[in-house]
Amino acid sequence: MDIASTGFDYDELEGEYAGVRRTDPHIAVRLREFLGDAQSLLNVGAGTGSYEPQDLRVVAVEPSKQMRALRSSQVVPALAHFAEDLPFAANAFEASMAILSVHHWPDLQRGLAEMRRVTSGPVVVMTFDPNAPTDFWLKDYVPEMHAVEMRRYGPIERIVQGLGGADVHTVPVTRTCQDAFQAALYARPEWFLRAEVRAAQSAWSHLPAGVEARAMADLANDLRSGAWDERYGHLRTAPTVMCQLRMVVSQG
Ligand SMILES: C[S@@+](CC[C@H](N)C(=O)[O-])C[C@H]1O[C@@H](n2cnc3c(N)ncnc32)[C@H](O)[C@@H]1O
Repeated sequence: MDIASTGFDYDELEGEYAGVRRTDPHIAVRLREFLGDAQSLLNVGAGTGSYEPQDLRVVAVEPSKQMRALRSSQVVPALAHFAEDLPFAANAFEASMAILSVHHWPDLQRGLAEMRRVTSGPVVVMTFDPNAPTDFWLKDYVPEMHAVEMRRYGPIERIVQGLGGADVHTVPVTRTCQDAFQAALYARPEWFLRAEVRAAQSAWSHLPAGVEARAMADLANDLRSGAWDERYGHLRTAPTVMCQLRMVVSQG
């Protein structure tokens, strides 16, 4: 398998990824609850190491060379493997997690089966449910995004099935969320106008040519004229909003 076959080439990533996509403390607390009392943890599609609890024995796998290079000295070095082919024995880990990664996997079912195979306890998959209701306004500027996200994420039931049954939990996203995925910026529309922020959000690269530029021009105009604030300004102070972020938790 090749990293470019995963749909967004993290090896081409430049600039500020680690600064834009940081561990959000609220999400980290929720995740920690689901990991229970596990002592060993496999992080699949581990990226720069966000959300890896410091008090667990962590093994991280990450296929992108560039992502592995962006990991700080505070986290373990990641091994170069794909989710679909994990080189570990059955039940080698007490818990495992895949954080905002499964939508990149060429073979979702095989990757999930691999995670379940190597884990004796909880498997936690953090992802988005593109069918869930949301207050996030970006769709009004980029109506094309829904089709893109449906194609990439698909129905969340596929993940539940791939894990052999799981519970789906809503994850609240707060106004100051430190992990700047798109919905995390519901109260900070100006962030979208920064190219380095969008570069750390893979969805943009899947849109038809010209859509991103058009949407950003419209957003910039509306922010200048005050139209954005008239329509959505109440969200600037909303502590949380209805979002599509989910944790899918399969118990061992
Ligand atoms: C949005 S990043 C998330 C990184 C990290 N989990 C985090 O929360 O910051 C998605 C990651 O999934 C990785 N990835 C893509 N295809 C993969 C695959 N088939 N198996 C494992 N990881 C994969 C990418 O290289 C990338 O690092």
